[in-house]
Amino acid sequence: MNIVITGATEGIGKAIAYAFASKDNALALCARTFSKLEVLKADILTSTNCTDVFIQSVDVTNHVEINKFAKNCLEHWTSIDVLINNAGVFIPGKIHEEDDGVLEMTMNTNVYSAYRMSRSFIPQMISQGSGHIINISSVAGLKAYPNGGSYSISKFAMLGLGKGLREELKEYGIRVTNIMPGATWSNSWAGVDLPKDRLMEASDIAKIVLLATELENKSVLEDVVVRPLLGDL
Ligand SMILES: NC(=O)c1ccc[n+]([C@@H]2O[C@H](COP(=O)([O-])OP(=O)(O)OC[C@H]3O[C@@H](n4cnc5c(N)ncnc54)[C@H](OP(=O)(O)O)[C@@H]3O)[C@@H](O)[C@H]2O)c1
Repeated sequence: MNIVITGATEGIGKAIAYAFASKDNALALCARTFSKLEVLKADILTSTNCTDVFIQSVDVTNHVEINKFAKNCLEHWTSIDVLINNAGVFIPGKIHEEDDGVLEMTMNTNVYSAYRMSRSFIPQMISQGSGHIINISSVAGLKAYPNGGSYSISKFAMLGLGKGLREELKEYGIRVTNIMPGATWSNSWAGVDLPKDRLMEASDIAKIVLLATELENKSVLEDVVVRPLLGDL
C-alpha cells in the first residue's frame, strides 16, 4: 500500500512509519525538519524491507506546502491508499490564561492541516473508489480537562472533522478512522515529572493504525479509544 504520514519524525508518527515499513508498504513522510526526515528515511531503508520512502519538509499550517506535498506524492505514486493525519502540537494551559494566538496556531496545526491534507487527497481516492483517512485525535477530544486549553478544543474539532468525512466518503468506498489515544510516551512529554511506565508506548498506537488498514474493505474501524491501563493522567 501507499501510505502518507504527517508528523512522521517523532513519537506516534514515527512508530506508525516503522509499523507500515515493516510490512513492505511504500511511505510518504512529512514534518518540518528535513534533517530528521533524512535520518528516518535512511534508517527505514536499512532496517526494514521497505524500499520506497518519499520525504518532504512540510509545515502543515501552510496550505501551499500541503498542496505541493500532495501533488508530489501523487506524481511519485499514481494512487494513494492511506492518509494518516498525525502532526499535532500540545501547549498546556487554561483557556483564560494561555497566550493570545495559541488557539489559532493549535487549530491550524491540529485541525486545519488535517482538513486541508484530506481535501488534497480525497479527489484521487474518489477516482480510485478506495482509500482510508486515519486521524490521530485524542481522549482530550472526548472529555475536557483542566489545562487542556486550546488543545482540547482542537481535538474535539478534529473528531468532528473525522465524523463528517466518515459520513461523506463512505459512498465512495473511502474509510475514515478516528483514533483517540490517552497519554502516550513521546518527546512531547520530555521534562514532565512522570514515570514512563504510566504512559502507553507509541508502538501500541501504531499497531491499532495498522490493524485499521488490515480489515476487509467492507469494514471500517470508526472510533477507537485507547488509554493507559491505570487511566488518564
Ligand atoms: N503523546 C501523547 O500523549 C498523545 C496523546 C493523544 C494524542 N496525541 C496526538 O498524536 C499526534 C502525535 O503526537 P506525538 O506526541 O507523537 O507528537 P511529537 O512527539 O511532538 O511529534 C510531533 C510530530 O509532528 C511534527 N510537526 C509538528 N508541528 C508540525 C507542523 N506545523 N508541520 C508539520 N509537522 C509538524 C513534528 O516534526 P517537526 O517538529 O520537525 O515539524 C513531529 O514529527 C498529535 O496529533 C497528538 O496530538 C498524542
